[in-house]
Amino acid sequence: MAFVKDGKENPTLTERIQEAVAVLAPVLDAAASKEADTSHGTAHDEAHGTPPRTAPSEARPRTVLILGSGLGELATEIKASVEISYEEIPYCKTAGAPGHQGSFIVGTLAGTNTAGTNMPSSDTAGSTTATGDTAGTNMPSSDTTVSNTAGTTKAGTEIICLKGRLHTYEGHTPLETTFPLLVAHALGAQNLIVTNAAGAVNKSFEVGDLMLITDHINFTGSSPVTLSKENDLITSFFDMTNAYAPTWQNRVRHAAQELNCTLREGVYLGVRGPAFETPAEIRAFRSLGADAVGMSTVHEVTMARALGMEVCGISLLSNMAAGILDKPITPAEVNEAAAASADILSKLIKKIVVSS
Ligand code: HPA
Repeated sequence: MAFVKDGKENPTLTERIQEAVAVLAPVLDAAASKEADTSHGTAHDEAHGTPPRTAPSEARPRTVLILGSGLGELATEIKASVEISYEEIPYCKTAGAPGHQGSFIVGTLAGTNTAGTNMPSSDTAGSTTATGDTAGTNMPSSDTTVSNTAGTTKAGTEIICLKGRLHTYEGHTPLETTFPLLVAHALGAQNLIVTNAAGAVNKSFEVGDLMLITDHINFTGSSPVTLSKENDLITSFFDMTNAYAPTWQNRVRHAAQELNCTLREGVYLGVRGPAFETPAEIRAFRSLGADAVGMSTVHEVTMARALGMEVCGISLLSNMAAGILDKPITPAEVNEAAAASADILSKLIKKIVVSS
């Protein structure tokens, strides 16, 4: 289905999001109703005391996962109930980078059935929802009051997966790159798990390691948020302390321990690209406190925080950054390393999604 963008001339950001939601919400809710019909909620159940099922809109996923370069394979682990290409979403740009498909997937991460998991439950204590943290935004609030059971089905935990990320190096504005995230948030998502392939700036890290992002440096010189007329959604300054939620960081640490996998921790520095860096830039970034470098993530995290979402970030270190090894960096090695570690990253993500 090709979407015909309608005639309104200068729609506000809120109007653009609402139009996208108007296309996606019925599809999501129809899929959720179908799922509910096959799992419970029949007249027989109700007659026998089974609680009535929640409204489909309340069952929408609370977590959105953005897959980075070469990590699209992970999407094959999602039992999709809905997959809609970016082309069909009003005002959404399409992804053009190799390895990025560009679709909005709603489904269950295979293996995230909550029965039988042994994640520490204390982890969830102190976790906050986005509802109390939306200072500075004036999003419609109805979708942010989903119940605790939202997005959980008998089969596992439902997520929205943004497969195929939009980059500024493709010519999109920072705001455009975050549009799918804005739509996911408007549909009810309150948590963002962001993944990426990154170059290791910290020389003690190794190719193939996973790095928990504890903070970032936005070196792109731009932000998806401007306090201007183009943006009627975020209208005040917002805080970036603890941009990467401590609660989620702990979930990742516990999950890595359980999986017995090496987990580095550090600061991600975001650049615009598309050139890989010069060795001098990497030396400079190291002295600024960066542990990894990449061409994504910082705008998405900035937007997520502006919306009051909780963020979890994980980098897959696909190569040593420029100048560390005596060889050039190639996109092929980035994709190969990402593909080689996609399995462990997928296991890690399943664990943290279940424990959230
Ligand atoms: N630099 C920037 N972006 C990247 C790199 C890198 O070395 N590796 C993967 N994405």
